[in-house]
Amino acid sequence: MTRPPFLPCFALLTVFFALGQKYYLPSGWTFSPTSVPAHAAETVAFCQSLFEPPNPSQDFLRRSRSDRYVPGTDTVLLKDAKIWTGERNGTQVIRGDIILDKGIITDVGDVDLSAYSDDMIVIDVKGAWVTPGLIDTHSHIGDLPSPLLLGALDDNSFKGTIQPWLRSLDALNTHDDSYPLAIAGGVTTALVLPGSVNAIGGQAYVIKLRETKERTPTSMVVEPPYHVNTTVPDPNLPRRWRHMKHACGENPGRTYNDTRMDTAWSMRDAYSAAFELKQRQDEYCLNALHGRWDKIPWDFPKELQWEGLINAHCYEAVDLDDLVRLSNEFKFPIAAVHHSSEAYLVPDLLKEVYGGPPAVALFATYGRAKREAYRASEFAPRILARQELKVMMKSDHPTLNSRYLLYEAQQAHYFGLPYNHAIASVTSTPADAMGMGHRIGYIKKGWDADVAIWDSHPLALGATPTQVFIDGIPQLAAYVIRKPANYQLLPKVPNFDEQTNLTLQYEGLPPLDPGEVLDEFVVFKNIKSIYTRSLGTVESVYTAQDGNNEGVLVTRNGAVLCAGVSTDCLGFVQLDGPRVKVVDVKGGSISPRLVTFGSPLGLGHIDAELSTMDGVVSDPLMDSIYPVQGENFIARAVDGLQFGSRDALPTFIDDVPCILDWLIDLECGNFTTAVPIHSKFYAGIGTAISLGALRRSERGAIIKEATSVHLAVGHFRGGQPSISAQIAALRRLLKDGFYGFSGEWFEKVSKGKLPLIIEAHSADIIATLILLKREIELETQHTIKLTIAGGAEAHLVAKELAEENIGVILNPSRSYPYTWESRRISPGPPFTRHTGLAKLLAHNVTVGIGCEARWAARNLPFDLGWAAIDSGGKINKAEAITLGSTNLEKLLGLDLRDEEVDLVVTEGGEILDMEARVVAVVSPMRKGVYRV
Ligand SMILES: *[C@@H]1O[C@H](CO)[C@@H](O)[C@H](O)[C@H]1NC(C)=O
Ligand SMILES: *[C@@H]1O[C@H](CO)[C@@H](O)[C@H](O)[C@H]1NC(C)=O
Ligand SMILES: *[C@@H]1O[C@H](CO)[C@@H](O)[C@H](O)[C@H]1NC(C)=O
Ligand SMILES: *[C@@H]1O[C@H](CO)[C@@H](O)[C@H](O)[C@H]1NC(C)=O
Ligand SMILES: *[C@@H]1O[C@H](CO)[C@@H](O)[C@H](O)[C@H]1NC(C)=O
Ligand SMILES: *[C@@H]1O[C@H](CO)[C@@H](O)[C@H](O)[C@H]1NC(C)=O
Repeated sequence: MTRPPFLPCFALLTVFFALGQKYYLPSGWTFSPTSVPAHAAETVAFCQSLFEPPNPSQDFLRRSRSDRYVPGTDTVLLKDAKIWTGERNGTQVIRGDIILDKGIITDVGDVDLSAYSDDMIVIDVKGAWVTPGLIDTHSHIGDLPSPLLLGALDDNSFKGTIQPWLRSLDALNTHDDSYPLAIAGGVTTALVLPGSVNAIGGQAYVIKLRETKERTPTSMVVEPPYHVNTTVPDPNLPRRWRHMKHACGENPGRTYNDTRMDTAWSMRDAYSAAFELKQRQDEYCLNALHGRWDKIPWDFPKELQWEGLINAHCYEAVDLDDLVRLSNEFKFPIAAVHHSSEAYLVPDLLKEVYGGPPAVALFATYGRAKREAYRASEFAPRILARQELKVMMKSDHPTLNSRYLLYEAQQAHYFGLPYNHAIASVTSTPADAMGMGHRIGYIKKGWDADVAIWDSHPLALGATPTQVFIDGIPQLAAYVIRKPANYQLLPKVPNFDEQTNLTLQYEGLPPLDPGEVLDEFVVFKNIKSIYTRSLGTVESVYTAQDGNNEGVLVTRNGAVLCAGVSTDCLGFVQLDGPRVKVVDVKGGSISPRLVTFGSPLGLGHIDAELSTMDGVVSDPLMDSIYPVQGENFIARAVDGLQFGSRDALPTFIDDVPCILDWLIDLECGNFTTAVPIHSKFYAGIGTAISLGALRRSERGAIIKEATSVHLAVGHFRGGQPSISAQIAALRRLLKDGFYGFSGEWFEKVSKGKLPLIIEAHSADIIATLILLKREIELETQHTIKLTIAGGAEAHLVAKELAEENIGVILNPSRSYPYTWESRRISPGPPFTRHTGLAKLLAHNVTVGIGCEARWAARNLPFDLGWAAIDSGGKINKAEAITLGSTNLEKLLGLDLRDEEVDLVVTEGGEILDMEARVVAVVSPMRKGVYRV
């Protein structure tokens, strides 16, 4: 499981510029032809065309068929839709019909059918939400195809830092498994950018994701710029936008050993050459337009390699301040800044960009993986929107899976981005920023027939398309999940005003406050549901009927005195008595705290900065071992712990103090991407900690010192050691490796006294591990407790896993074919009837949900809620909580007494909903109720 050798494109500031400088003829100028050369007419037309902004032609919106229309495509009538049109700043929703004809939307709302033939396809969507197809404004789809193989790592050129002449189109692979997956998430269009290891990385292209009958990359491009297949654009055609990728900060810096000063100079150097050429061209054209041919007895000055820049007139700098200064100095506009994780701290600066503020493309919660993203905030979208800046959410696919682009918008909405901006952030806003707002991103008459029909409100967690049209062509043979009626409504999100203010006050680093103890007696009332633990599983003990939230929880010093309805519980305490605090949770809930596993959360702070992390553990199978470690050394995670990471203790922003315990294994020293994979065979001894603690020495900080032994079997760097060699090593460790420091641990594993957690994704490897377990058990007569972590392909051997009583920790919870080993996923609706998770559960395999990366730990409640809603009712909420708590404990070797485990109190909704906010933790071990 080699970590795919790409750098996620995650610079502090990656910008792309929509090219196409506006040239204007100075007023009063006229043409005065004198003695004219043969090419004069052509040259004048060409020069004039340079003075036109790259807008669609005058009659574009009167078109009756799309340039992308595929003859034979049926005319479709979508009846009775709830249509988010994109109009009125995204606030317009109309109930009505949509007609898709010849690749465009020909009518919306109260439609006139008289002009169409009777054989149109009629789909009654019965009031379902319909949006424009989603637009991913920052993607490497096709240039980094999945599964990732060395033969197609084509998005980064390492040939130099200034490469404006490169074109993402030239590497676009048509066999990326991600195309259909992204479409299954409602994504219809992507801007494919070159990677970010270059200061100027090359030109980006807008593509539609559907298959074309030509089967070519070119046929996927939307409005290909005229330079795509010629160096001499046709001056009679309107000019088209082009996009130039720039990157600042760590990615180009790390790759070229450049400081930010070096990167900035590279750009200035490039731009000065380009600027000089542009001046010569301008001079040439002004002379040509004046007929002063005697002054220009040569051809139009052109240099292919600078051509992109020349048309761009765009400058770059290493940070937003530089960028703004340069944009004004050289008078070029900027379409968008990407990843700019500190944009929210300098909104006024962005407003100073020449020609108007750029749009800002953000992740919702991905942050802190590198130094320059340390101040990333989940409140950035709302802060920027309030400042009237345009916000776009993006995937940076495959850094995040483009299929879940809408989830980024859902999270932004949860943290306070108004709903109209949230939907616009993945539709109309990117369309406009790309210069494509005249044909995509809206549901309007004359726009491209790219629409998604949803099974719920688009901002409800887990929203899934039931059908997607691209250029009027249906893309899915869909499995549809029936969802509860409340999923059709806009989620009522919590109020994070106070947290947002504090984030700004502390410039993104608000204090990590573990929260104060509320009082000796704390009574929570107005509770909608109560879940508790019993015999190692989670059960629902109270659910409100008919909207009457009569649940009550009475606690004393962190111990539960009563959990139930008010009539039963209120006798336990006198509400107006001394040392009693009553908290109205406004329809909130009580549930056991969750457990996160799978990232190096407790082992440091910033993945890419080794000095902030535990570091790299040597592997006896792969590395040379220092003599003092001994051949059979084994490291223990508990010795490398670092508390107080911003990903571990976001109690201050109080979204996930529910994740109080964390199981880790020692695998990570290197920069981790979103891909949750080990880089070594040998990991170490896991530990379990409380994320509520700030020091290892605090009471309750260490829940269990040594939980289990962790290994990984898979393809690591350079194919060494082979899978067969790893299995041989494992066999030896479990059969006769009981000497030295590691011996005692493997002996415990072999005798079934300690669980063995093996990360593996491939069904072939998992099957081999199943057989190895049988083989060893037959010999030793002990039962080995084996858990598979990862498990993208585990569903293929679900039956055997169940027979051997081997549990699986799915990580990530929604599988993705990152590598060859994990390519055979079961993607679930709308693709397949069942997810991999559902298949494992159907075979009664014990399943836990893991976490892909440190920043993602906070999203576990959403992952669980999503798993429940995706199952179409097969997994209820209590079972979903089980997947993220008691099941993980069982699989990872934690043996806890139910009454010792913290409870989490939410306000405004249940923990797995995108409506709730954690307000308190009831901690029997820390003997108190903590407000968060
Ligand atoms: C959209 O929002 C902008 C900025 O708030 C405002 O100036 C404009 O009038 C709004 N447009 C419509 C149609 O509501
Ligand atoms: C170049 O591509 C455009 C757009 O795909 C096409 O219309 C044109 O015919 C092509 N020109 C040549 C010379 O191939
Ligand atoms: C960067 O520096 C390292 C160490 O000095 C060197 O090995 C490497 O070749 C350099 N890389 C480039 C692209 O110059
Ligand atoms: C947040 O700050 C704004 C602007 O300073 C202020 O109007 C608002 O009252 C503050 N809200 C909270 C909850 O602190
Ligand atoms: C970390 O990355 C460096 C440089 O790419 C590599 O040499 C080293 O082997 C990696 N370590 C691990 C644990 O993968
Ligand atoms: C799973 O367990 C349930 C309940 O014990 C049982 O009814 C069902 O047959 C089992 N399924 C399989 C595939 O073993």
